[in-house]
Amino acid sequence: MMRSQRRPPIPARDCRPRDLLLTMPLAPDVHAPMTDLLNLTDVGKVFTLPSGDPLEVLRNLSLSVTPGAVVAIVGRSGSGKSTLLNILGLLEKPTSGTFLCNGVDVSELSDAELAHLRGSFLGFIFQQFHLMDRRTAVENVAEPLLYGSPKELSGRHQRAVSLLDQVGLAERASSMPHLLSGGEQQRVAIARAMVRRPRVILADEPTGALDPTTGEMVLDMLLNLV
Ligand SMILES: Nc1ncnc2c1ncn2[C@@H]1O[C@H](COP(=O)(O)OP(=O)(O)O)[C@@H](O)[C@H]1O
Ligand SMILES: [Mg+2]
Repeated sequence: MMRSQRRPPIPARDCRPRDLLLTMPLAPDVHAPMTDLLNLTDVGKVFTLPSGDPLEVLRNLSLSVTPGAVVAIVGRSGSGKSTLLNILGLLEKPTSGTFLCNGVDVSELSDAELAHLRGSFLGFIFQQFHLMDRRTAVENVAEPLLYGSPKELSGRHQRAVSLLDQVGLAERASSMPHLLSGGEQQRVAIARAMVRRPRVILADEPTGALDPTTGEMVLDMLLNLV
């Protein structure tokens, strides 16, 4: 169970990559007021098991993520890391407490507003890449732009190619995901997560499906890009 985080945070580079869940706010916006990107106060999460019994996964969790911060969430399997990431990713609602996303209390948002915030403010990276297997690498990277503003739509392909270039895969733009190695697929997924210029990247064990050396390389690339 996760409790409020009173211990100093563990620097991301001192954690074993397989344990990592990262929230990676992108470069601070100097013109924006100093609002936490993510702010949890006394958040709790209780699931109801099929038996009807409650399962308390998070209790009194408070967390503040400011622009430029890299946060690693570490804990044993089943301790609630993915649950926390799902709350931060607007995929689950807390049972108690307050979550301010970019200063907005998410409990007051409609489903459409949540979907908009999710698409424009957050980028997601998962352990299992989650690429579309019938689409090329560049189509996978460009896909989130379909839901973006018309301005984003005009430069879709170019933007996707430029992101692939940043992860060292410009030459593989036309490759189907299954022809790419695990590390390459995760680099495509990183490019896709960044294509709409999110303020926060949420990564749930982003190196968990990779061998240690590849995992470290992918993690370094991710940390260098933000
Ligand atoms: N939708 C759900 N319904 C019931 N229990 C759940 C649900 N999601 C997760 N859990 C349980 O919550 C606990 C924490 O899970 P999770 O957040 O996935 O942990 P971690 O990512 O740290 O391994 C686990 O015991 C898991 O079985
Ligand atoms: Mg998990």
